[in-house]
Amino acid sequence: PVKDRVEDLLSRMTLEEKVGQMNQFVGIEHIKANSAVMTADELKNNTANAFYPGVTDKDVERWTAQGLIGSFLHVLTIEEANHLQSLAMKSRLQIPIIFGIDAIHGNANAPDNTVYPTNINLACSFDTAMAYKIARQTAKEMRAMNMHWTFNPNVEVARDARWGRVGETYGEDPYLVTLMGVESVKGYQGALNGKEDVLACIKHFVGGSEPINGTNGSPTDLSERTLREVFFPPFKAGVEAGAMSLMTAHNELNGIPCHSNEWLMQDVLRGEWKFPGFVVSDWMDIEHIHDLHATAENIKEAFYQSIMAGMDMHMHGIHWNEMVVELVKEGRIPESRIDESVRRILDIKFRLGLFEQPLADTSKSMKVRLSKEHRETALEAARNGIVLLKNEGVLPLDASKYKKVLVTGINANDMNVLGDWSAVQKEENVTTILEGLRQVAPGTAFDFVDQGWDPRNMDPAKVAEAEKRAKESDLNIVVAGEYMMRFRWTDRTDGEDTDRSDLDLVGLQNELIRKVAASGKPTILILVNGRPLGVEWAAEHLPAIVEAWAPGMYAGQAVAEILYGKVNPSAKLAITIPRSVGQLQMIYNHKPSQYFHPYVVKPSTPLWPFGYGLSYTSYKYDDLKLSAKEVSQNQNVEVSVKVTNTGQRDGVEIVQLYIRDKYSSVTRPVKELKDFARVALKAGESKVVTFTITPDKLAFYDKKMKWIVEPGEFVVMAGASSADESLLKETFILK
Ligand code: IFM
Repeated sequence: PVKDRVEDLLSRMTLEEKVGQMNQFVGIEHIKANSAVMTADELKNNTANAFYPGVTDKDVERWTAQGLIGSFLHVLTIEEANHLQSLAMKSRLQIPIIFGIDAIHGNANAPDNTVYPTNINLACSFDTAMAYKIARQTAKEMRAMNMHWTFNPNVEVARDARWGRVGETYGEDPYLVTLMGVESVKGYQGALNGKEDVLACIKHFVGGSEPINGTNGSPTDLSERTLREVFFPPFKAGVEAGAMSLMTAHNELNGIPCHSNEWLMQDVLRGEWKFPGFVVSDWMDIEHIHDLHATAENIKEAFYQSIMAGMDMHMHGIHWNEMVVELVKEGRIPESRIDESVRRILDIKFRLGLFEQPLADTSKSMKVRLSKEHRETALEAARNGIVLLKNEGVLPLDASKYKKVLVTGINANDMNVLGDWSAVQKEENVTTILEGLRQVAPGTAFDFVDQGWDPRNMDPAKVAEAEKRAKESDLNIVVAGEYMMRFRWTDRTDGEDTDRSDLDLVGLQNELIRKVAASGKPTILILVNGRPLGVEWAAEHLPAIVEAWAPGMYAGQAVAEILYGKVNPSAKLAITIPRSVGQLQMIYNHKPSQYFHPYVVKPSTPLWPFGYGLSYTSYKYDDLKLSAKEVSQNQNVEVSVKVTNTGQRDGVEIVQLYIRDKYSSVTRPVKELKDFARVALKAGESKVVTFTITPDKLAFYDKKMKWIVEPGEFVVMAGASSADESLLKETFILK
């Protein structure tokens, strides 16, 4: 049994080897590439995020062969992974490396892998089976590259659109985030014992998605109630689903850095939830306990605080091995505490079969990666995650009417459609939006005015050129949004560490839209972005808007198929789109008093609410029925609602069920999503959709933070979005 193998190995390890297992380094190619772009000052000053100054690839290779590095991240090729693993196989105990990578939407950070839509896009499909499937396929592609551990799913509940990482979350609703996260964990890990399974990592624990000023890693101040009601559920469910690793968050939480937070790592995670896996730090965040949060006077003290609070593995940094060994030798950290962490790490390495199969077969790798099946999944997911926000009849496009079409905008012909956490992929593996349009409507003359890729660097002459050419076209398509891809890191406007103090389109994009629209020709806006954008002018003046998010490698095909009606859009927003930054926090499941005094001058309503999305057909809801008007505790309520496709086209409708506790001893949200279903309906077809309200769906934390179900009246709402006007309502009494 694995347990015996772990104990046997542990008993033969030196302290240095044990601490080495808790040490994660970045790959040598990554070190070389990043050192090359660092300034002399950065290298000299050894700033917190610097790569290891003075450390050469030869040092890293030597340490690996000495068994002093237990894990690598940012190793991007099978050759490098196999090379480092072969070195580990030369170490005294031949303990294999576990390779971690940010495979957030496919193993897209590495070249030549299937790039699926980003998480926010996937969440808008409300397709949890798809989340499972993508994770499963990603696991296979990872293992084919000798990578064993993905830093995903990101199960943070997004509550601030300024934050640059919204696009890698599943949106604002704790229930939807939970289900998406759980299915991803199951997909990645499988039984966590096969050659096609990888370790999942639920992250970032916790609260970083509601930073006080919207910037990544800034302080988070959240009540225990909000943590337990909103932020904890996806993590708790992830643990229950078997996730065996968890990453702590950059931020401090209520005055204590998450990386040294005993309450989070021990009381909640291990004590309450019985988490058996291991905790990994984020990028140099243990060091930041000292040099940023300043609750440790030096790095060694920071390591001490973090380990004693429950940290098991350290990500990226040079001092770990030496200082942690010292801390143990000085008697400050008991060796038994180190043993606990090493046990957890070795347990995973045994389960994943790394001892039996340390290397991946280079010759078979490309048979798995980018396979036909995986590509088809990427295309299907892209089609299902694109949200039609506005359509005054211009869509689907009639190719015989619009013969000459102008295409322009920063995201019209760029790989940025792959989104954050993607490397540059081969051109033949990415369909840009312009390419997709040309493929799907070959008879149309697409005229393209290139606006470059950087919204901050747009050329007014190109805007003027588009303005002129728009007048000569029958229809205009502006593909706007944000820049997210990592390979032009410093120029991004959206993504990790790329936060905004406004939600407007950056640069000359608004001017471009207005000038093109002034042509009087129908103008369609396609948005490619991660965070919601407050496109108020466009929402009022343009006849059609599509929120594509970052749809992945088949972005162009999926967008074009939707524009030309080959695919009937079905996605619904997994996050509210506010009008402006001033409206934040703008979420559908707010407390009852939130708009008691609405804003003056501008509306208190969002541009588009959570759960909203249009289709080329129409749906009608009626016959909302409950199995009982009065139930006792522990009894379920069956809900049924009839949905009819009243239009001319087949479609898929995402039917949503919300609940409100009418009067309660503590304040409760105006509505909370409790269930949903993706329902395929042929034109004219009706279906009755049923949901079961179990008692736990009515439960909440009372004044003493006890999880209870309280008697009273509950409002059940079913319909097409979270907006009141699209919901049917019924009530029942819980005795
Ligand atoms: O996994 C990520 C994390 O989400 C943010 N910081 C870097 C890590 C490794 O790339």
